[in-house]
Amino acid sequence: MRKPLIAGNWKMFKTTEEALSLVEGIRAGVHKVTNCTVVICPPFTALDAVAKALKGSSVDLGAQNMHPQTEGAYTGEISPVMIKELGCRYVILGHSERRQYFGESDLFINQKVKTAIKYSLIPIVCVGETLEQRESKQFLEVVKKQIDCSLADLTKEDIAKVVLAYEPVWAIGTGRTASPEQAEQMQSYIRRLLNEKYGQDVAQKIWILYGGSVKPDNMAALIAKPNVDGALVGGASLKAESFTEIVLNAAKESLVGKAS
Ligand code: PGA
Repeated sequence: MRKPLIAGNWKMFKTTEEALSLVEGIRAGVHKVTNCTVVICPPFTALDAVAKALKGSSVDLGAQNMHPQTEGAYTGEISPVMIKELGCRYVILGHSERRQYFGESDLFINQKVKTAIKYSLIPIVCVGETLEQRESKQFLEVVKKQIDCSLADLTKEDIAKVVLAYEPVWAIGTGRTASPEQAEQMQSYIRRLLNEKYGQDVAQKIWILYGGSVKPDNMAALIAKPNVDGALVGGASLKAESFTEIVLNAAKESLVGKAS
């Protein structure tokens, strides 16, 4: 069984000082939880301090992005080696905000995924359709293309190291969550695609998270669905109370609701 994974994407929020106080709250809130993997992804500037503050805790650290090259003349960019050195285990790649505001293509994301795996970072690869694509009923096709291209040329072994996050763009930061049925429809479709391409063993190993307005009160219903293995949480990860509650609800529901 895939133990729930809850990742907090802090986006461009929190100075180092603010980050440290948030980490303290999260550590205290989740320290008894054993059946849930908890990851926090602060901005680059806070990674070092947060890594130190997480020493001895089970909370993992992730970055929100990275460049596909290990070094070079890429002003303003951060390499996989650099985030690894700071203690990151995860890295979010292909978030819709990166695709939309920074023009990231599936090809570029694919290069990042390959480098992340090479440096033993676990990529959390985001996919998801816009409202227009949902309304014109192209959403399955859009996500299939994102998956095919951003995960192109990976071996079965490498694919098994990837975490996927289905984040419908219309649900991000809008307070409009996908219903558990909508999330399950897409996520079971994604698992079917993985099954066809890489076989049942690999498909069953891959975590598929849901992201988009996840809150303490909708977590349980979402994670009760068989193909929702956790969440990528934006806004609600910026407060220790709400993030902790999401983790606790996911951990509890996965023991009760998913037992079958
Ligand atoms: P949200 O963001 O929870 O604020 O909707 C999710 C994300 O962008 O990963």
